[in-house]
Amino acid sequence: PSGRLVDSRGRAVKDLRISVTDRCNFRCVYCMPKAVFNDDYRFLPRQSLLSFEEITRLARIFAAHGVSKIRLTGGEPLLRRNLERLVASLAEIPGMEVTLTTNGVLLPKKAAALKAAGLARVTVSLDSLDDATFRAMNDMDVPVSDVLAGIAAAEAAGLAPLKVNMVVKRGLNDHEIIPMARHFRGSGHILRFIEFMDVGSSNGWRMDDVVPSAEVVRRIHEALPLEAIDPNYPGEVAERWRYTDGGGEIGVISSVTQAFCSTCTRARLSTEGSLYTCLFAQQGHDLQTLLRQGRSDAELSAVIGRLWQQRGDRYSEIRTAETAALRKIEMSYIGG
Ligand code: GTP
Ligand code: 5AD
Ligand code: SF4
Ligand code: SF4
Repeated sequence: PSGRLVDSRGRAVKDLRISVTDRCNFRCVYCMPKAVFNDDYRFLPRQSLLSFEEITRLARIFAAHGVSKIRLTGGEPLLRRNLERLVASLAEIPGMEVTLTTNGVLLPKKAAALKAAGLARVTVSLDSLDDATFRAMNDMDVPVSDVLAGIAAAEAAGLAPLKVNMVVKRGLNDHEIIPMARHFRGSGHILRFIEFMDVGSSNGWRMDDVVPSAEVVRRIHEALPLEAIDPNYPGEVAERWRYTDGGGEIGVISSVTQAFCSTCTRARLSTEGSLYTCLFAQQGHDLQTLLRQGRSDAELSAVIGRLWQQRGDRYSEIRTAETAALRKIEMSYIGG
């Protein structure tokens, strides 16, 4: 494509987040609550999933439109068999950075192969260091030690420094903010505190459950002094802070109290190949059918370009109690 592709608010497309499975070995209460994701829940049948070839083909088309960073998500992306093969074929796209967000449990098995395949970085989710709290949050009785083993495996494979994501939900794990900060301080890893969001329609989100990032920073600062630092690049999701004594940095992701839609350059591809132009979209755009109808790259590229040009999403800027109650796509289907 010639010319810079921008949406109706002047935002380019730079990041593609690809969900490779809607399944997960956790049932985090804020993401896949067991009341919904139980034995009766119908996960996608295998033939509905985009193949690695289909994903790579779309990724190349997005790359031609300006995407230079891919993040593989899920569900739990490491549950997708042979994921390292997909990483390898995506990493072959010139100039592409391939990254992954995982709950970490399968990293001891997978980290070395992922690194060898060309994975650039990995982000691990961990919501607490306290076993009882963590088991209650993942709701599958997974101990903290399994995730710490995953982090250690990623380090050993040469994937460090990592980012560690902690979703903070008031009354559930906010007492773990300081212990988590102390644990990762000085480790080289970057701990990021994420405001609990109203993604999907099943997590029972209420504003009262959100711990604003300003409060997180204030609470840490009182124990371990912090100072703000500049973003690594314009439009970075996490706001950066560093310990004044050189203990490293943390990040806060404030999509509820300080929306960052005006610089949102992210496109999302669901497990079955629908394009979502916002994490909170109510509707995706089916690319799988076009792929399987045998459309040419040029046709696919034109469709994607048109969809991006029409994009006007800014959900987090216009969130209200009413929009929070709307039927939205689940995080486990669209990826984080
Ligand atoms: P890097 O800058 O490469 O580390 O990527 P990142 O910060 O986008 O990575 P990550 O997937 O770890 O994002 C962290 C979390 O921020 C996600 O899991 C979401 O919870 C949230 N997030 C990321 N992008 C968006 C977005 O576009 N909108 C909203 N509302 N939240 C987002
Ligand atoms: N609010 C904020 N973050 C969430 N994540 C999953 N569900 C939510 C939510 N409701 C986070 C996960 C992971 C990333 C992919 O998104 O913890 O770090
Ligand atoms: Fe699984 Fe991640 Fe959702 Fe937890 S947040 S249920 S680990 S996809
Ligand atoms: Fe982007 Fe939508 Fe998130 Fe706003 S709410 S930052 S538009 S994904």
